[in-house]
Amino acid sequence: MDSIDEIYFVEKNCFSDPWTREMLESEILNKLSVLETETKNGILCGFALGRVVADESELFKIAVLPDFRRLGIAQKLLSKIHGQMRQKGARVCFLEVRSRNFPAVSLYEKAGYQRVRVIPRYYGDDDAVVLKREL
Ligand SMILES: CC(C)(COP(=O)(O)OP(=O)(O)OC[C@H]1O[C@@H](n2cnc3c(N)ncnc32)[C@H](O)[C@@H]1OP(=O)(O)O)[C@@H](O)C(=O)NCCC(=O)NCCS
Repeated sequence: MDSIDEIYFVEKNCFSDPWTREMLESEILNKLSVLETETKNGILCGFALGRVVADESELFKIAVLPDFRRLGIAQKLLSKIHGQMRQKGARVCFLEVRSRNFPAVSLYEKAGYQRVRVIPRYYGDDDAVVLKREL
């Protein structure tokens, strides 16, 4: 398994409100979890983390280190994690994203996600957009 420390390094460098190392580790070790990582030149530069419960899945996080962005890495991670979710029996994937996170919203819409609803002020300072994609 990829080192939790490397994944945590990406987490800290990609989110203003990162999960703690303990939260990440506990989620990754959960038997329902699905994880994909991408390594370039020996550096773990991105990961995607989600969960499959029966025939539904949820994508919790996707992150790529700033120096490695706009190279298609997130698209590749999404495609790999969708494959893993499908393999574990999921037929659909849900996620929530900050409405003002334009790069992420664009990424998800390009990958075929569709808007289900908006949850006002879910993040306090921003609304959440709930997205869904058939797998
Ligand atoms: C969102 C994020 C994962 C995208 O990673 P990435 O590897 O740069 O994305 P990709 O290169 O695969 O981009 C795929 C598509 O997403 C969209 N996209 C990605 N970054 C974008 C940006 N800064 N502005 C506009 N669209 C963007 C584009 O449609 C892009 O396709 P294109 O390059 O052909 O135009 C990355 O910016 C990141 O880690 N952000 C911080 C963490 C985060 O907000 N995660 C999402 C919520 S959990």
